[in-house]
Amino acid sequence: MTVRTSLEQAAKSVMDALTPGESQPDILETLQAEHDEVQELLEKLVKSDAAREQKSLVSKIKQALVPHTKAEERVVYDAVLALRGKDAKIDGNEGYIEHGLADATLKKLDNLTANTPEFKAAAKVLKELIDHHVQEEERNIWARVKENFTDDQREQMNRDFLAAKKKVKGA
Ligand SMILES: [Fe+2]
Ligand SMILES: [Fe+2]
Repeated sequence: MTVRTSLEQAAKSVMDALTPGESQPDILETLQAEHDEVQELLEKLVKSDAAREQKSLVSKIKQALVPHTKAEERVVYDAVLALRGKDAKIDGNEGYIEHGLADATLKKLDNLTANTPEFKAAAKVLKELIDHHVQEEERNIWARVKENFTDDQREQMNRDFLAAKKKVKGA
């Protein structure tokens, strides 16, 4: 860390301490917590043998996943797609396609009768899709976010992400 960045960090800590209500987490911390939550629910879903529990888990997954992916597209993926370079645009498009596949699989799952072989297969596919997507997103997309956006920008992205999520929920 250079002297300048450590001074900036120190100044920021003082400002955060003076205005506690204004302090925001880095967007990547919020995304991490939401990924953990959805992956935990999917883990429970594929292990469950009770129809009632499966239905309740699908509804929880839907409530957590849909606002997350929509807000993430608006705030994170669109920012990555706007970066220079073909590779960033490929990563951004890949994310959008995987979100679409997860969304379609979730809709299918929601319409199936719980605890049938079809339901269990769809639950397994959704878990595999999300596990793969989260792994790539946390590696490739987050690397681009860390490289191209400052701490302050990432805090602003967090505010925008939370606001975008509220809009999706209210829709
Ligand atoms: Fe995500
Ligand atoms: Fe995502």
